[in-house]
Amino acid sequence: MDRTPVWFMRQAGRYMAEYRALREKHTMLEVCRTPELAVEVTLQPIRAFDFDAAILFSDLLVPLAPMGIPFDFHKGEGPVVEKPVRTAGDVAALRAFEPREELSYSLEAIRLLRRELKVPLIGFAGAPFTLASYAIEGGHSNHFARTKGLMYGEPATWHRLAALLADVVADYLRAQVEAGAQAVQVFDSWIGALDEADYREFVFPHVRRLFDGLANLDVPKIHFGTGTGHLLAVQREAGGTVIGVDWRTPLDEGWARAGEGVAVQGNLDPTLLFAPRERLLERVDDVLRRAAGRPGHVFNLGHGILPGTPVEAVKAVVDHVHEWKGSGLES
Ligand code: CP3
Repeated sequence: MDRTPVWFMRQAGRYMAEYRALREKHTMLEVCRTPELAVEVTLQPIRAFDFDAAILFSDLLVPLAPMGIPFDFHKGEGPVVEKPVRTAGDVAALRAFEPREELSYSLEAIRLLRRELKVPLIGFAGAPFTLASYAIEGGHSNHFARTKGLMYGEPATWHRLAALLADVVADYLRAQVEAGAQAVQVFDSWIGALDEADYREFVFPHVRRLFDGLANLDVPKIHFGTGTGHLLAVQREAGGTVIGVDWRTPLDEGWARAGEGVAVQGNLDPTLLFAPRERLLERVDDVLRRAAGRPGHVFNLGHGILPGTPVEAVKAVVDHVHEWKGSGLES
């Protein structure tokens, strides 16, 4: 491809009127669990913008329920886990499951989407630390005090939980690729809360095991986190083939830290979509200049698109990325 591919995390969502209209009639979990609705929402941004990839509409947390961790989305609060996982006994009660049966609704959505889509379809799942943090905290957390408390205080219990999550997620991602997903993204969104030593001790072995479980799948494997400037090199060792860089690290520096021979995805600050057009496009150019037309750059935001984002700004960025000829390297 002679232009930089572009898609946005959370490209289907509340900033789109079509999405809000559908959500007035259905809960978040209904949309995730009804293939026709998940398909419709996945397609909304593909119809509206010239994105180069679609991402399955679902949520990171859907594998928790069949493991024995039911949850729901509460208005204004995000996800709430009914009975958080806090003890060795709680972890022992969890189970692996067959995603081809218990998450068949997402796999069916993937199969239906592949018939409709002309652009590649990305599947996804959460990484062990990020998923464990919701299971343990019971919802969103700023400091991950209980999660880190379990890690430091009961390392054997932590490792049992993280290993189970790694196996569940690897199996779910394999099932997504079997169903037709042409790339996968592992969301390790909150991993930046750990320093490198804790990452290596408590998380790396599990993420490595997860990516090892995907090694024979011939699709790009994106490993995404935020606040990860200090972790990019060790993330690379974990085995993803594309490393997500958030906006706190300039893209070229992040790419250098991740190393030669790996692709990178990023990294516009999502709040720039609220900025005046000139500043927005200047910063898009800055990302593209830092990528310098090198093969292996996927343009994205540094994190998900925010509710309230103006749709015209999304369109302007996607079109601007496609029109960019600034590197001088393209023929
Ligand atoms: O990128 C995509 O478009 C794919 C779909 C997707 C959603 N959430 C849809 C969603 C993906 C990949 C996610 C990731 C996700 N979900 C994460 C990873 C963290 C991240 O953002 O990187 C986490 C922790 C979750 C769990 C979750 N789901 C939270 C914390 C929330 C509430 C956040 C909020 O902004 O209110 C959700 C709800 C959610 N997931 C929405 C969407 C579009 C909003 C749902 C709605 O109210 O309509």
